Amino acid sequence: MVGTDINYAAALLKQGQVVAIPTETVYGLAGNALDMKAVSQIFTVKNRPSFDPLIIHLPSFNHIRFYVKEIPEAASALAAEFMPGPLTLLLGKSDRVPDLVTAGSALVAVRVPAHSLTHELLSKLDFPLAAPSANPFGYISPTTAAHVDQQLGPQIPYILDGGPSIVGLESTIVGFPNGQPTVFRKGGIAVEDLEKIAGPMIIKPHSSSNPQAPGMLKSHYAPRIPMVIGKPEDYLEMHSADEVGCIRFRKPAVGVPEAQQLVLSPAGNYQEAARRLFAGMRALDGQSLSIIVAELLPEEGLGRAINDRLRRASAR
Ligand code: TXA
Ligand code: MG
Repeated sequence: MVGTDINYAAALLKQGQVVAIPTETVYGLAGNALDMKAVSQIFTVKNRPSFDPLIIHLPSFNHIRFYVKEIPEAASALAAEFMPGPLTLLLGKSDRVPDLVTAGSALVAVRVPAHSLTHELLSKLDFPLAAPSANPFGYISPTTAAHVDQQLGPQIPYILDGGPSIVGLESTIVGFPNGQPTVFRKGGIAVEDLEKIAGPMIIKPHSSSNPQAPGMLKSHYAPRIPMVIGKPEDYLEMHSADEVGCIRFRKPAVGVPEAQQLVLSPAGNYQEAARRLFAGMRALDGQSLSIIVAELLPEEGLGRAINDRLRRASAR
């Protein structure tokens, strides 16, 4: 069921059930992070491997102190600037956080979502919500309640509808190995903006063989239709124009019907492009195309996070 009843969502969560929740980044599949049965249910519904740890969501930065060992100065500075918001901090976990949530790691990922409904929901609970993106493992993350309903609806009792996610990309994950601010996943806050607050960041390249964080798995966020990075003209010999889809930044490609093209932001605005990316990819994935050809954006600002998703969606 899809609705806007926060009290009902809270009641289900208190009973140990899972509920889909809106956030500014993408929709999450939430459960009581301190309840093993609820956490296991998240993994089952998502078909997610248990080695992939979950982010815990809290109503404010003050609540975070309870679940982590210590907070490096750079983390406090980033939190002061970007929480609530699309920032996840990777910090040493306190004993209160179950090992199942962190997949046995001594680190826990914590985040304060910037969404009024979910803030109100979290404020009614005396536990954090563990919540991965509310999509089957490996598929494109949902940015509307309808996306969640289409894929997970039959398996979950409630989807809290908070409208379309306004950021549209998952949170940026920052950790502090050896005290050095490090980006583990590019996301809704641009690296350049983090650097203004915390100085130069290390960017950890992902590895598919030994994923530090499976959001870093090389192939992820992927549509069912094969996707490639490149120019449509290079594929128009092998495929007829009516079976080629395109993802473009500002302008549609020539030679492909426009109904098969996702143009992210004619104005060249990265926020708009990010907000429209996943919904647009899903819509293309629903057409009968044989290939989707994506153009990369300039490697700056949120363009870097968008390119990261396009590359992972293209990796097979
Ligand atoms: O924007 C977001 O972060 C969304 C919304 C729902 O909050 N959540 C999200 O969760 O994207 P998920 O599970 O799809 O991606 C979380 C990423 C995964 O790649 C996971 O491996 C990593 O965070 N992660 C979580 N806990 C971790 C930990 N203790 N150590 C390393 N990586 C961790
Ligand atoms: Mg995910």
